[in-house]
Amino acid sequence: MSGDGLKGLILSGGRGTRLRPLTYTSAKQLVPVANKPVLFYGIESMAAAGITEIGIIIAPETGEEIRAAAGDGSRFGVSITYVVQDAPLGLAHAVLTAEEFLGDSPFVVYLGDNLLRDGINALVEAFRRERPDALILLTPVSDPENYGVAELDGDSVSRLVEKPEEPSTDLALVGVYMFTSSIFDAARAIEPSARGELEITDAIQHLVDHRLRVDPHIVQGWWKDTGRVDDILEANRLILDDLRERVEGELVESRVDGRVVIEPGVRLERALVRGPAIIGAGSTITDAYVGPYTAIGENVVVARAELEHSILLAGSSVRDLQGRMEASLVGKDVAIARSPAMPRAYRFVVGDNADITIL
Ligand code: TTP
Repeated sequence: MSGDGLKGLILSGGRGTRLRPLTYTSAKQLVPVANKPVLFYGIESMAAAGITEIGIIIAPETGEEIRAAAGDGSRFGVSITYVVQDAPLGLAHAVLTAEEFLGDSPFVVYLGDNLLRDGINALVEAFRRERPDALILLTPVSDPENYGVAELDGDSVSRLVEKPEEPSTDLALVGVYMFTSSIFDAARAIEPSARGELEITDAIQHLVDHRLRVDPHIVQGWWKDTGRVDDILEANRLILDDLRERVEGELVESRVDGRVVIEPGVRLERALVRGPAIIGAGSTITDAYVGPYTAIGENVVVARAELEHSILLAGSSVRDLQGRMEASLVGKDVAIARSPAMPRAYRFVVGDNADITIL
């Protein structure tokens, strides 16, 4: 299937400012959704579309962590080449940075923090069949003023507008694009935008202006950009909705209801887990309730607490809470506990940009 030389490019650089404080120490593309890094969903959907040569754009700060996580790609059945982008100067700049890797091949660009329920097979097929100069993925949204949008003229794209004040269309650009090497000249020809970035929408507009053919493809199934905490929780909910039950850990006076995954080495003691939920290897859940849409990473401790609709990363612990924890995203090795010694006080040791709400 990959005989036409189609390559993949996943953009996993960027600043991730909207996901601070997690992104102070970690790449946002590695935040787990249903216990799997967001980035892996992108790699897997490329592999499923028959794309085996994948470039990943990384930032100098977080690149090593991404390399360590995804490796040479062999476990996904693909070959990964890492390309360092010295500074996050925009999506079109990221594409230009990978020009040597991409060469003359047509390619798919996939934003490393995006999730598409139905993968990219349909659009890759359309691109292979129709052979346009570029193909962009679109989805109708209720708030087009917050997105890059595309106006259509019959079957082709006539104009792209970034965050229009008065949108003339509700078709927003989804974070997946297909290009031929004509995009490089377009990216070189444009100027940085007001925010100082080389915008991919401007580069695509340049193609349209020079009468190259840009096809639209309306996305089927849901699409999620996981750039903000609420989006990650929502993506977690959507992925967990498709979970298949598998219980491998040890249950002592405990119950699991509905679609629940309990990984090996988990110990539940006097616990109720109501799915859809997933609990990572080596975690212990004691005298606790884990409610729907919760993803608990590896080696997490939950004791005498209730939580739901939350994501807990590896090594964290939640103990002795009186109320139910909900809609929370807890980073690696974080400890949350209520001390019996001072029941009316709060004590926080928290990094920059943390967000704590006592409900
Ligand atoms: P964005 O989410 O638009 O940008 P960002 O990562 O800088 O985040 P924030 O706005 O919160 O500061 O980027 C979309 C994806 O593209 C994301 O996976 C990061 C990646 N990216 C690059 O690889 N290089 C770049 O120059 C930019 C701007 C983004």
